[in-house]
This record gives sequence, C-alpha cells and structure tokens, in this order.
Amino acid sequence: MAQSDDTTLEQLGPKDAALLQQYSDVHMNVFGTPLRVMDHAQGTRIWDVDGNEYLDFLGGIAVNSLGYGHPAWIKALTEQANKVAHTSNYFATVPQITLASKLIEKAGAPEGSLVYFGNSGAEANEAAMKLAKLHGNTLPNNTGKPARIIALTHAFHGRTLGALSITWKPVIREQFEPLVPGAQFVEAGNVQALQDAFDASDEQGPVAAVIMELIQGEAGVLPVGAEFVKAARQLCTEHGALLIIDEVQTGIGRTGKWFAFQREDLSGGIIPDAVTFAKGVAGGFPMGGLIAFGKRNSSLFTPGSHGSTFAGNPLGCACGVATIDTIESEGLLANAEERGKQLRDGLASCGNPLFTQSRGRGLLNAVVLAHPCAHAAANWALEHGLIVNPVAPHALRMAPPLVVSESDVDEAVSILAKVPSDLPDD
Ligand SMILES: Cc1ncc(COP(=O)(O)O)c(C=O)c1O
Repeated sequence: MAQSDDTTLEQLGPKDAALLQQYSDVHMNVFGTPLRVMDHAQGTRIWDVDGNEYLDFLGGIAVNSLGYGHPAWIKALTEQANKVAHTSNYFATVPQITLASKLIEKAGAPEGSLVYFGNSGAEANEAAMKLAKLHGNTLPNNTGKPARIIALTHAFHGRTLGALSITWKPVIREQFEPLVPGAQFVEAGNVQALQDAFDASDEQGPVAAVIMELIQGEAGVLPVGAEFVKAARQLCTEHGALLIIDEVQTGIGRTGKWFAFQREDLSGGIIPDAVTFAKGVAGGFPMGGLIAFGKRNSSLFTPGSHGSTFAGNPLGCACGVATIDTIESEGLLANAEERGKQLRDGLASCGNPLFTQSRGRGLLNAVVLAHPCAHAAANWALEHGLIVNPVAPHALRMAPPLVVSESDVDEAVSILAKVPSDLPDD
C-alpha cells in the first residue's frame, strides 16, 4: 500500500516528523512515506514516538495474530533465542519439526503430506510455482510450450518475479515483464473462462496448476465464490492439474477456521493439492511456507529442488508453535468468527451514509465506501486513534489481531461511524 501520499509532515507530532524526514533520506521510496514512526505496542494497541495511541485494526496486515507482546509468544521467542537462533538447513531443530506437524494436522492434510518452510508469502508462492512446474513436467505435452500456471484476475501472490507473474494488478506487474512463461490469468468467478483455459491445452500447453486466494484480500476482501472454487477443483482433477490455494492472508485462523478452504461457504468443501501460508503463522516473526497434500505432491521436491538460508528458522518456528497453541488454548478461532460478525453487523448498522456494505469472513473484512475516498477515510480514522487500511479506493480493510475483544470492536465501530461522508476522493 502507498501509505501516506496525502499526509504532510506538518500534520505529525515533532518526533514523528523529524524521524520520517530521516527515514526518507535513507530508504528507497517503495512504500511511500510511512504514516507514523511506531515506538511500542501491547495487545491491540500501538503507540507512536510522540506518544499517540492507536487501536490497531490492521495488525501488521493480518500478521500479528496474537496482538502485540503476548506472553506466550514472547516466552517462545526469548527461550528459543537463548537456546539457538539459527542453524542452517544442514541441521534441524525441534520447533521446526513441531510446527510442520501442527500445520499438517490443522490443515487436515492426508497421510504423506509434507511442509516446506520459507520466510514470506511471496517465497511461499515461489515454492508453490516450482512445485507446479515439476508437476507440469510430468504431464503429456506435445506443444513444445511450458505447462501453464493459471491465476485469477485481481489476484495478489507477491512481488518477487515468480509471484509477480501470477499477480494481477497491471501497474505493479507490467513494468517487469516478460515474467515467468506460461503464467496466465482467468477472470475470477468465471467458470466458462477457466474451462476454456483448460480446453486450450492442445495449443497452449497443459495446465500444471491453478492458484487462487479464496478471499482476494489485496483486491478489497473479495471472495471468489464457492461455486467457482468447486468448479476449479473439478477441472483440475479432470485434467491432472494441481489446485493450489494461497492462504497467506486467510490462513492460520484469520477467517475463523485454521484455513479458509475449510470454510464450506468459501470453498464448497474442496480439498486442495497444496496450500501456501505466511503472514499470521508466526504471529509477527517473518515466516511462510507450503503444505503439499498427499505423498505424490509432497515428493515432487527432492534434494536441491528448492531452499533458502533462513527456511525453517528456529525463532520463527518457535513463534509459530506458540501462535498455533495460543490460538487453540484461547479459543481464537471462535473469537475471530464472533468478533468478525460483530464488526460487520456494527458497521452495517452504524448509520454512516459513507458505508454501503461490509464484507469478509472472521477477522478479514472490508467496509465498502459510497465514493472512492479510502485514503482520506483511513487518514481520518488514524487521526482519531484507529488503524484501518485503504486497500482499494472504495474499500477499507480491517484485519485486527485474533485476540481483539468485544469492546475493541465497539470502539472501532464507534470511530468509523463518525468518518465524514464528504471526504475527498483518492
Ligand atoms: C494472498 C497473498 N499472497 C501473498 C502475499 C505476499 O506476501 P509477502 O508480502 O509476505 O511476500 C500476500 C501479501 O499481502 C497476500 O495477501
């Protein structure tokens, strides 16, 4: 997101303004000027260097699952730091083994399923694309063209060159083309278009994989639709393609289930061939990865197929174990479901004429705006102590920590209810 093209340094507190000037002097401008310089945080609250407090309904973009400074997370991180922080993949550690086992179990993945750990969402999807390519090499192909990877319009899978090949937004993709050969887009929700893509295999090469998010978070929290997902599953099975679900944003409890594909209303009850995860998995420690479902898909990677120096880092894995255990022990899946409903209902009935719809599942939500003023609306909320995200000109995204309380949600709704409806458009 471009953070604050419309925030001037004069609007900020004195420490924020001085530090943001220094920030700009030493950072490449890929993020725009940050909104504030943050100092410390606890639970669902974060404070900037000028001492202003914010209720955080973005959670580091769906990352801080347990909120800030959760004792179980701090304990896991510090204990592991005191034991061993990094080993290389010539060696394994116990948290790595524990986390992989827990992820396979929570995904309900069948016997023989295996995990690959990376460090981010883009890397998780790079791994998935490499898996798809290895699978594609096993498919009949008389075209001389590479097997294809089909992604959806409005998809976001990351910004590395592979992940960017399957990321829709032309303004962030096109300047880097040509990208990975065989990456193609099909209109999200259009079963016929997907069917047509499969039917073109004799001329264009077989389809190695279809990759999709079940809720397109970066596009404005848009579900792709259970019927479409079911049709994709059927077509992939018929044609021998992998169905890969990108759960980087939706995974690890965010939608009220461990993974969004476990929600019948999002997936129609399908079982994927692989799932990618990142963001919330380690509650704020950089971590990502891939679960390949079943023995056959899991054995596509062999020694040398893939890897990364930090993959399976013990600190991240210890944080991941603590995150999953705490989600379980504190009933945070149920909390995500209940607080999410409270938030959507609250926004729908708060009487703000700017809001035309609230959508999402669990604690991944957006409120749709009557006119495209998301940046001004998010800035107004920030000035009034609430962090939300102008994910699209017409949509404010909310992805608070899974520990968010009933009173936090009431407070967020009461701030949002007062956002003026006549703010300038983006
Ligand atoms: C669905 C999805 N996939 C992949 C990514 C990329 O993750 P990262 O920014 O960790 O590379 C994101 C990030 O927003 C995402 O939402």
